[in-house]
Amino acid sequence: MEITMPNHQAIMETYNRFPVTLVKGKGSHVWDDQGHQYLDFTSGIATCNLGHVPDYVHEKLTAQVDTLWHCSNLYHIPPQQALAQLLVDHSCADQVFFCNSGAEANEGAIKLARKWGRETKGEQAYNIITFKQSFHGRTLATLSATGQAKIQQGFAPLVQGFQYLPYNDSDALETIDYDTTCAILLEVVQGEGGVLPADPDWLTKLASICQKKNMLLMIDEVQTGMGRTGELFGYQHFSIEPDVFTLAKGLGSGFPIGAVLAKQHVAKQFQPGTHGSTFGGNPLAVTAGLATLEYMLAHNIASQANELGLYLNSKLAPLVANYSIVEAIRGMGLLKGLLVSEQAAEIVAAARAQRLLILLAGPNVVRILPPLTTTKMEIDQAVGILESIFKKGLMADVKSNI
Ligand SMILES: Cc1ncc(COP(=O)(O)O)c(C=O)c1O
Repeated sequence: MEITMPNHQAIMETYNRFPVTLVKGKGSHVWDDQGHQYLDFTSGIATCNLGHVPDYVHEKLTAQVDTLWHCSNLYHIPPQQALAQLLVDHSCADQVFFCNSGAEANEGAIKLARKWGRETKGEQAYNIITFKQSFHGRTLATLSATGQAKIQQGFAPLVQGFQYLPYNDSDALETIDYDTTCAILLEVVQGEGGVLPADPDWLTKLASICQKKNMLLMIDEVQTGMGRTGELFGYQHFSIEPDVFTLAKGLGSGFPIGAVLAKQHVAKQFQPGTHGSTFGGNPLAVTAGLATLEYMLAHNIASQANELGLYLNSKLAPLVANYSIVEAIRGMGLLKGLLVSEQAAEIVAAARAQRLLILLAGPNVVRILPPLTTTKMEIDQAVGILESIFKKGLMADVKSNI
């Protein structure tokens, strides 16, 4: 078959795209325009948590497509109310604001924290503590919140009022100026920053400082939410309750949607005129979100992700034992990182050549994000491909005991 190069000249080059054009997906698999089938252990970057085109969401979304696409937030939208209620019923939040992406959700959380700080502590309390190697998005405020210089490069002047502390460092928490700080914002597993989970003791201490010193605890659950870590929301692994948390990615099974969820004492800072979005919570997006969450709850998808995560761990552990290039496994549930001493990008490319899609998380972490509906057989297949790559000597330095 003749291969035609896709014409992408009119697309801004914000991504280094792989030489693959995907045209179809179902369950854990996607197909390219040449008819090749791939095992997709990226889930569209932690988004298609129920696999591609899940039947239940497809059915609900198709019905909504025939009914009403958009009407604006000047009117009540029943599936929006139902999704908000279900999220509130299954989390520590009392109210929800819907938007369209992870960055927009974090942007909303930042605005909410600033308003809360000003109203309850005074106008000096606008600073937000975030962490080195964090990732919170690409808008001006969220890239300013992100603790990575490479994300911020070229966009100065940044939005003021962010201070970056080292992650998992208890001593650093002592340096916070409580009077001028309104919130601490963090991921419970740093996803883009290298699949690095929070130390439970550190997180408990951080939460207790927030409570004692009157600062909001805000969790960015854009990547860790919607069952990915083996709980519906990542914070539920820890004995903490955020005042605010954000969702996107897995919430809509691939349909764009984001959400800011907050306890009442914070949520009440948003009143008519303070925040908004034309598309946020539109009938199609919230129908996708509602169907996704209903399915997840009815089928215990989060605990399934936990179980499959343990299984994936047990299969990856021998790679650490047998191949010196593989240094450690990190992560929670089905958000996994293989820390490698070199060549992470080559491993991802070699896997793609064998029709397995995986991701990077920084220069030396291979990120594995299967759909939460994957099977043990698919996990065996993926780990088998990874092992064959190490075995074939793509990595020169293979331990002598194999
Ligand atoms: C933790 C986290 N926050 C925010 C974002 C930004 O989300 P979006 O790309 O939907 O704006 C991401 C995206 O990777 C993320 O992983």
